[in-house]
Amino acid sequence: MKALILAGGKGTRLRPITFSMAKQLVPVANKPVLFYGLEAIAEAGIREVGIIVGDTASEIQHAVGDGSRWGVQVTYIPQPEPLGLAHAVLTAEPYLGTTPFVMYLGDNLVTSGVRPLVEAFQAHKPNALILLAEVPNPQEFGVAQLQGERVVRLVEKPKDPPSNLALVGVYLFDHHIFEAARAIKPSWRGELEITDAIQYLIDQGYTVESRQISGWWKDTGNLEALLEANRLVLEEMPPSQHGTLVESQLYGRVAIGEGTQLIRCTVRGPAIIGHNCHLEDCYIGPFTSIGDGTVLKQCEIEYSIVLEGSRVEEIGTRIEGSLLGKNVSVRGVARRPRTLRLMLGDSSSVEIPT
Ligand code: TTP
Repeated sequence: MKALILAGGKGTRLRPITFSMAKQLVPVANKPVLFYGLEAIAEAGIREVGIIVGDTASEIQHAVGDGSRWGVQVTYIPQPEPLGLAHAVLTAEPYLGTTPFVMYLGDNLVTSGVRPLVEAFQAHKPNALILLAEVPNPQEFGVAQLQGERVVRLVEKPKDPPSNLALVGVYLFDHHIFEAARAIKPSWRGELEITDAIQYLIDQGYTVESRQISGWWKDTGNLEALLEANRLVLEEMPPSQHGTLVESQLYGRVAIGEGTQLIRCTVRGPAIIGHNCHLEDCYIGPFTSIGDGTVLKQCEIEYSIVLEGSRVEEIGTRIEGSLLGKNVSVRGVARRPRTLRLMLGDSSSVEIPT
C-alpha cells in the first residue's frame, strides 16, 4: 500500500496567509498541519508516500525533505494546475501504478489515525473505502447514503441530505479509481471531483465501503476550522516548560519552548509558546499557539494562532479568534487624533470594536 498526500490546491479560503505560504504548512499547536498527516501514514505502516504539490512545491519540499524524519520515502508529484482531487489522483497514476493507496488531504486532521482503515481495506479488499463523520451541517459537505457499510450514493452539498454523514479527507482506493477519474467530467466549478469519481465506481458496480470516524476530524482550510483544530490538538497536548519565568504564572496545560522568557505574564492553558519568544506583561488565554521568535508586550491574546517572528505590543483590547501570519506587527500608539494606521495585504480582514 502507498499513500498519496494532496498538498497542492489554491487555498483561497485562507487568504492572505496563503499568498505567502502553503496552507498545509500553517501550524496547529506550532506544528504544520501536513506533519500530522505524515505521522498518521507512517504510523499505519506505509513507507512509500507521494505528495502532490502545486505552486508551493519548493516550500513543501523544504519542510518535508525526503521523509526520513517519519521513516517514509517521499516522492514529489507536481500537479500543473489544481484541477480537482480526482485530477490529482490521475496526475499520480504513473507513481501509484496498480498499488492500492490511501489518499489523504494535506490540510486535514484526523485524530483516530489511518491504521484501522488500512486494516479494513486489506481484510475486505473493496475497490474503495471512504471515511465518514457525523456533522451537524451536512448541506455543506459531500454526503453518503448507506446500506449497512456499503455506500449506495454520494451527493455533493445536498439541499435535502440523505444522511448526516459527511466525507472526511481520507480515502482508500485500488487502481479502478483511475478509470473513474478518466470517465467523469469537470463539475460546475471546473474541477474533477472525487465524489463524482466514487459515484462512478458505485454506478459501475464496484464495491465502495465506508467507516465512521471514531475521533474528531477537521479540515483546516478556513480560519474558523483552523482555530478549532488548534483548540482540539492543544486539549490533548502534554505540558512542558523549558523557558524562563519571571513573576509569571502558568495555569493548566502549557508548553513553553527553549530560550523563551516570560516577564510578569499569566498563561492559562491549554496553550503553547514556541522557542526564543519574549513576553512581557501579557495574558495568554486558552487555545492559543504562539510561534517561535515572537515578541509580545502589554497585550492579551486568546483562542488565536500567532506565527513565528510576529510582534504584538501595547494593545488595549484583548485579541481573540485571530490568525497572525509570519513577521506581522500590531502595535498600539498613544496618538491624537486616535486614528488607525493600517498596511494590510490583499484579502486581509480586520474587526475593530466601534
Ligand atoms: P481544497 O481545500 O478542497 O481546495 P483548495 O486548496 O483549492 O482550497 P480553497 O477552496 O480554499 O481554494 O483541497 C483539499 C486538499 O487537496 C488541500 O490540501 C489542497 C489539495 N488539492 C490538491 O493538491 N490539488 C487540487 O487540485 C485541489 C483542488 C486540492
